[in-house]
Amino acid sequence: MPLSRRNFVKNVSITAAGLSVVNPFNSYAKSGEAKVKLGFIGTGLRGQAHLATVLKRDDVEIVAICDVDARMLQMSKELIGKSGKKMPPIYTGNDYSYRELLALKNIDAVIIATPWEWHKPMIMDALSAGIKYIGTEVILGITLEDHWEVVRGTEKNNAHVMMLENACYRRDTLAITNMVREGLFGEMIHLQGGYQHDLRGVKFNDGITPYNSGAEFGEKGFSEAKWRTNHSVNRNGDLYPTHGVGPLAMMLNINRGNRFESLCSFSTKTRGLHNYIVKKGGADHPNAKVLFKLGDVVTTQIKCSNGETILLQHDTNLPRPYSLGFRVQGTNGIWMNINNGIFIEGQSKYDHEHWDDAKLWLDKYDHPIWKRWSKEAYQTGHDGIDFFVMHAFIESVKRKTATPMDVYDAAAWSAITPLSETSVELGNQTVDFPDFTGGRWMTHKNTFALTDEY
Ligand SMILES: NC(=O)c1ccc[n+]([C@@H]2O[C@H](COP(=O)([O-])OP(=O)(O)OC[C@H]3O[C@@H](n4cnc5c(N)ncnc54)[C@H](O)[C@@H]3O)[C@@H](O)[C@H]2O)c1
Repeated sequence: MPLSRRNFVKNVSITAAGLSVVNPFNSYAKSGEAKVKLGFIGTGLRGQAHLATVLKRDDVEIVAICDVDARMLQMSKELIGKSGKKMPPIYTGNDYSYRELLALKNIDAVIIATPWEWHKPMIMDALSAGIKYIGTEVILGITLEDHWEVVRGTEKNNAHVMMLENACYRRDTLAITNMVREGLFGEMIHLQGGYQHDLRGVKFNDGITPYNSGAEFGEKGFSEAKWRTNHSVNRNGDLYPTHGVGPLAMMLNINRGNRFESLCSFSTKTRGLHNYIVKKGGADHPNAKVLFKLGDVVTTQIKCSNGETILLQHDTNLPRPYSLGFRVQGTNGIWMNINNGIFIEGQSKYDHEHWDDAKLWLDKYDHPIWKRWSKEAYQTGHDGIDFFVMHAFIESVKRKTATPMDVYDAAAWSAITPLSETSVELGNQTVDFPDFTGGRWMTHKNTFALTDEY
């Protein structure tokens, strides 16, 4: 998740509470317009946040939901019940019950919000079932081959697979995208981002309360502690690159005149998760014996074909305040979100140390979609960005058009994970990036967030 989890449960309950009052999103549907018939696979904590967002829209009908966890389904039913909308049929029972949902004839689009290892098989099954719009939570797949399979399957079925990368809709990164497009930073040179989020209290819990409640994971954990932590046991690389790289890729026109060419990753020793288990559960806790493979801080350098570099950080095991650590630097200026500063040569005061307060620039270059939809956006999770990512998906389905973030974006951004694992495994060797577009990156145009619509 791009924003702090501290407010996550609060966000869901705020949006859930808001559902029982006047529906604020009615403006989306033109009268008489057919509703988008949406199925949900995975109604865990993230799936419920998406449910809460679409329950506010009157241009969406939830036609089915599926999960394997009774508690998550109960929470979802309560959300839907409070909205006053019709309770959809529920598919559950085993790991493949979602195939019954996919076989329904009345589905326009499906949202997948399950553990990472389920995304690829579920996307492939949705494609085989003939579903043309698939919104999947981050990330696309586990192995490089997973990414190729999804790209080829999407092309073969003439479908649209959009990764629901909400960080691309942050108000600050969209304003900076505006500034980049207007040339204020000059030519792009070096960008930074990442996922710097203390997830210790997410990777471990007491099996009941999702955050900061214990030292259990796997079968004894709840929500992400159930599945996500196992990736830290077994894998060493940048496990969550898309929140950091997505906005930067859009600024650099990746897959649209530019592409990722190669990558090199370094990983530190691993201490944070073990120390946390000892702190929470004591040195004798059985999990204190677990050996974690994921280095506490993984740094990845990416080289782009137009000559820029990107530095990504994956930093989820140590105590630290949340930050995606953005830096956007060109021949004429720089933005850094950590010090909230912008410097533009010729316009900012130059005295070696002076930074403009970024707010001055971010307000001036506020993106048109934020100007138009901020009221609706702030009623959804993650400071409004959850609204925009779902809005973009639903509007694309309604208009039967390509989604603004496509399967090539999803593949390129999330393939950073298996490529970084390979680089670390090979002693920090630089590895080549595949071209998922098959050369079409040279002619594709950037259509992301060009207007105030979505
Ligand atoms: N973009 C963001 O801001 C953001 C925030 C949180 C999570 N996420 C992503 O959302 C996804 C889900 O994360 P979460 O926090 O909701 O995790 P979660 O564990 O709370 O929910 C996952 C749900 O999937 C269900 N599930 C597992 N296997 C299933 C199957 N075979 N069929 C049907 N349901 C199945 C689980 O029972 C659970 O309810 C992940 O990809 C995560 O990275 C994104």
